[in-house]
Amino acid sequence: MISALEFIARQDRLLAQCEPNSVCIIPAASVVTRSRDTDYLFRQDSNFWYLTGFEEPSAWLILSNHPRYGERYRAMVVAAKDKSAEIWSGKRLGAEAALSRFSLDEAFELQELEDALLESLQGHQSVYFALGQNRDNDALFKEAMSTLQDAPKESLAPVSVHDFRPILHEMRLFKSACEVAVMKAAGEISSRAHKRAMQYASPGCFEYQLEAEIHHEFAMAGARSPAYSTIVGSGENACILHYTQNAAEIKDGDLILIDAGAEYQGYAADITRTFPANGKFSQPQRDIYSVVLKAQQSVLAMLGPGVTLSEAMLHSAEVITEGLVNLGILQGSLAENLEQETWRDYYMHGLGHYLGLDVHDVGNYKIEGEDRRLKPSMVITVEPGIYISEDSDVPEQYKGIGVRIEDDVVITATGIEILTADVPKEIEEIEALMASSR
Ligand code: GLY
Ligand code: MN
Ligand code: MN
Repeated sequence: MISALEFIARQDRLLAQCEPNSVCIIPAASVVTRSRDTDYLFRQDSNFWYLTGFEEPSAWLILSNHPRYGERYRAMVVAAKDKSAEIWSGKRLGAEAALSRFSLDEAFELQELEDALLESLQGHQSVYFALGQNRDNDALFKEAMSTLQDAPKESLAPVSVHDFRPILHEMRLFKSACEVAVMKAAGEISSRAHKRAMQYASPGCFEYQLEAEIHHEFAMAGARSPAYSTIVGSGENACILHYTQNAAEIKDGDLILIDAGAEYQGYAADITRTFPANGKFSQPQRDIYSVVLKAQQSVLAMLGPGVTLSEAMLHSAEVITEGLVNLGILQGSLAENLEQETWRDYYMHGLGHYLGLDVHDVGNYKIEGEDRRLKPSMVITVEPGIYISEDSDVPEQYKGIGVRIEDDVVITATGIEILTADVPKEIEEIEALMASSR
């Protein structure tokens, strides 16, 4: 659980990096229609959540470092208490309670939004706003700006508009101890879910049934939503990188690739495991799986502060190329294959990505054109894979095999800590777990 103090400290750090005499305006997410008069389950905007921990839609956070406020001003605009609306859609915090919960200087109700925007914009030198995220919010912001610009005292409007995201996203890239603890919990819940699916799986069950097992374990732990659409790909479906139909009947002899992670208190886990439907890897499956596992273990061993993701990616590609040459899937020498990057035909995605409130989390991968070096408290995924479609020109026994192994790690002062270590990935461990449930 992230404390109220941590949210306020984040707001202060954002403000401290804005120009003097600035106001930051950060809207929450809105409810999105799913069909006719039903909505998608609400998901808060990650930046708004990062700064407030407030779960209601359509709110606005306003922060200012103007001297007229003593250089620290916080306000929120929130949906008003409304007995009838609350009977239909749930309790609202309301402006009065928001004042104390978020240690605000002022709290406004949503019907006062336009006035609140005018009041908080006027007299500032700069405004920080994320244009282009939401048309309705952009329109409200631009309307307030042009009202001030057109006013007789036109100097009241901020003269420069900046985006707060570069500052905020750099902050989000480095996780606090509390964030790491929450992400560890997300990793543990997700690990349990993967183990549950391994234990349930057998030939004849459907991919969506494994998805249901996974989501059951998430929800029972208080993680109602997956952090992204769950992938359960059996047989050749494992070679479709973003397969989410999850509709096929699983056959004896299939490998099953599951890429699933819980969203817990806003934070994502992102785990992939690949295992045999019947509980025993065949020799060709074992061959490919062992190469991917070696690539992943070898990257995990080299990761730590100072390493770049590109270096780690290249290392994983080398291990995979060597494995594919040894299996006769790639022809020619190791050096020739590395030179021609032939691995790209079978390992088509990157090694990993930042992980946090978003599954593909924010933060720059390059600084001034140079690959960024990992630093303590960054969280990344490590997810090499090999995907050999049926129409590949390879020895027959390898056709239709797709394997990915994905874990989440936090960079520490001396190396890494794996947040998803509870779910087995050694061949013997997977087979033992599956045998124990049969
Ligand atoms: N689950 C999305 C990814 O692995 O990047
Ligand atoms: Mn991933
Ligand atoms: Mn994944």
